[in-house]
Amino acid sequence: LQKSRVTVVGSGNWGSVAAKLIASNTLNINSFHDEVRMWVFEETLPSGEKLSEVINRTNENVKYLPGIKLPKNVVADPDIEHAVKDANMLVFVTPHQFMEGICKRLIGKIRKDAVAISLIKGMEVKKEGPCMISTLISEILGISCCVLMGANIANEIAVEKFSEATVGYRENKEIAEKWVRLFNTPYFMVSAVQDVEGVELCGTLKNVVALAAGFVDGLDMGNNTKAAIMRIGLREMKALSKLLFPSVKDNTFFESCGVADLITTCLGGRNRRCADAFARNGGKRSFDELEEEMLQGQKLQGVSTAKEVYEVLSHRGWLELFPLFSTVHEICSGRLAPSAIVEYTEHSARLP
Ligand code: NAD
Ligand code: 13P
Repeated sequence: LQKSRVTVVGSGNWGSVAAKLIASNTLNINSFHDEVRMWVFEETLPSGEKLSEVINRTNENVKYLPGIKLPKNVVADPDIEHAVKDANMLVFVTPHQFMEGICKRLIGKIRKDAVAISLIKGMEVKKEGPCMISTLISEILGISCCVLMGANIANEIAVEKFSEATVGYRENKEIAEKWVRLFNTPYFMVSAVQDVEGVELCGTLKNVVALAAGFVDGLDMGNNTKAAIMRIGLREMKALSKLLFPSVKDNTFFESCGVADLITTCLGGRNRRCADAFARNGGKRSFDELEEEMLQGQKLQGVSTAKEVYEVLSHRGWLELFPLFSTVHEICSGRLAPSAIVEYTEHSARLP
């Protein structure tokens, strides 16, 4: 039996935790090769050392996951072509805005029998309409791509606190089960559903709702208002997902990728935290500034996703159907004050 070889493309906060989860399983499951390669977008640390060298010397991603030891079988590799060349299982986990460029660099560089999974929450907008990241990977690289999404704040999984996740797959249940075996641990319980678009749209759209929840926190509106925003947000997530992909299943919204991810991100995510600060500053400091100051190199996904969703809605003439999504973008881009989140979304509560 040929053992599968896994490469993780990305090494941020979630990327490093994903490598930790996977590497603990490849050591124990015979059908996987022990070593897990992790591509590192190379940078020089203030000490003058290269990040990938420090990861390999200390088994710690000192910049994006400080204080957590990675298993010794995680090997950081700054050369992306070298990192992917032997792998037949590719795990993509970078901020979504970098994926198109990364995929283009990988054309012709990966194994013919490779399969992929995307842990990335976001989308691209093309002339033809929205393009989910798993579709981008599939189309550019000509390989099948599942997704893994869920209520998964990386720092909590890093210290092995229990959580759940959802794998979304298109047709091939066997491949989905292989991904479940690769990720599942006693503290990370993974299940698979045949609804790749539903799972990916949940993970993507909840980041827009998390910004709205952060605005409400920054305005000190209290728990009931925040819960209302989350309910209306979930309703918009479901409505937009089904308009874009009629095959999306209702049940997907009750999986970890749906309501559970929405709750955890609106309580403890980075999008929420930066939106809270944005509203407390009355919208006077930009998200770019706040991201740089508060996240130290980590990236927000919600602000660009809100813009991408807005483009799709305006192009299709759906802006009025999605007052929460539209208002979040108008606040982020400075056209409306943060307080508009409540004023404008109230209309939505009255929509049928
Ligand atoms: P991150 O935000 O912690 O880190 C940013 C990463 O981007 C770093 O690895 C950095 O080296 C890299 N980078 C910077 N510039 C780059 C460039 N030009 N090209 C390529 N890479 C570049 O990353 P993350 O938390 O691992 O997030 C990756 C994806 O996972 C996102 O879509 C996010 O929504 C999703 N996710 C994150 C969490 C979480 O808790 N962190 C949980 C679930 C899903
Ligand atoms: P943030 O990017 O807002 O931290 O969300 C993390 C996440 O997706 C948890 O599942």
